Amino acid sequence: MTDDLPAAERGKRAAAARALEFVEDGMKLGLGTGSTARWFVDLLAERIKAEGLRITGVPTSGRTRAQAAALGIPLATLDAAGWLDLTIDGADEFDADLNLVKGGGGALLQEKIVATACDRMVVIADPSKQVATLGAFPLPVELVRFGASATMRLIAALLEHHDVAGRDVTLRRGGGGPYISDEGNYIVDLGLGRIGDPARLNTDLNAIPGVVETGLFTGIASAVVVGNPDGTARVIEREL
Ligand code: A5P
Repeated sequence: MTDDLPAAERGKRAAAARALEFVEDGMKLGLGTGSTARWFVDLLAERIKAEGLRITGVPTSGRTRAQAAALGIPLATLDAAGWLDLTIDGADEFDADLNLVKGGGGALLQEKIVATACDRMVVIADPSKQVATLGAFPLPVELVRFGASATMRLIAALLEHHDVAGRDVTLRRGGGGPYISDEGNYIVDLGLGRIGDPARLNTDLNAIPGVVETGLFTGIASAVVVGNPDGTARVIEREL
């Protein structure tokens, strides 16, 4: 059908297909955002139709909501759903401890809220997302718009005291001006090169008043499904 796809897309599709095996009838599911999560939503809709599964999806962005609604997946807000059984989402990077960098697509805030309001978060990824040390991918951080330049100065000052290889703080742009998230906030991308202590950096960034949330997900993902271009996939479980 779509086997002329680029290798990375075939890997993402394989990861999504394997992750579908975690889905059971009656589940309340967090639906991630991005090109890998998009595969999952497509395949989930096919399985719901084929098997008559009763699933309630909670999307993590307007984009995913629109896709899932168009495919006929029953949806609810997180408040209506209350608590979720499983969230399936992509990542920009993951390391051996299943720490993640997320938010390349700008949906990190809803993604993090959904991922922590469920029994289990499973990440789907192609092999390019696996890294020895996080940080090559710029770390997204969501800020309130009020006082954003002062918040960016505080972030730059904080980075002086962290084990990182770069300290670039860049306001994300899009649509002719600053990028605005689904929650109406700005996003800055931190060019760090290496994140020596992801948990400490996440805690310290979140202590700055103008910071809403960071794209560092530490201790949240319980497994990563890595999909290969040949259609195979392997599951890496987080050691507790
Ligand atoms: C969206 O905000 C992100 O967190 C995505 O989950 C992440 O960027 C992965 O996206 P892809 O699956 O498109 O690589």
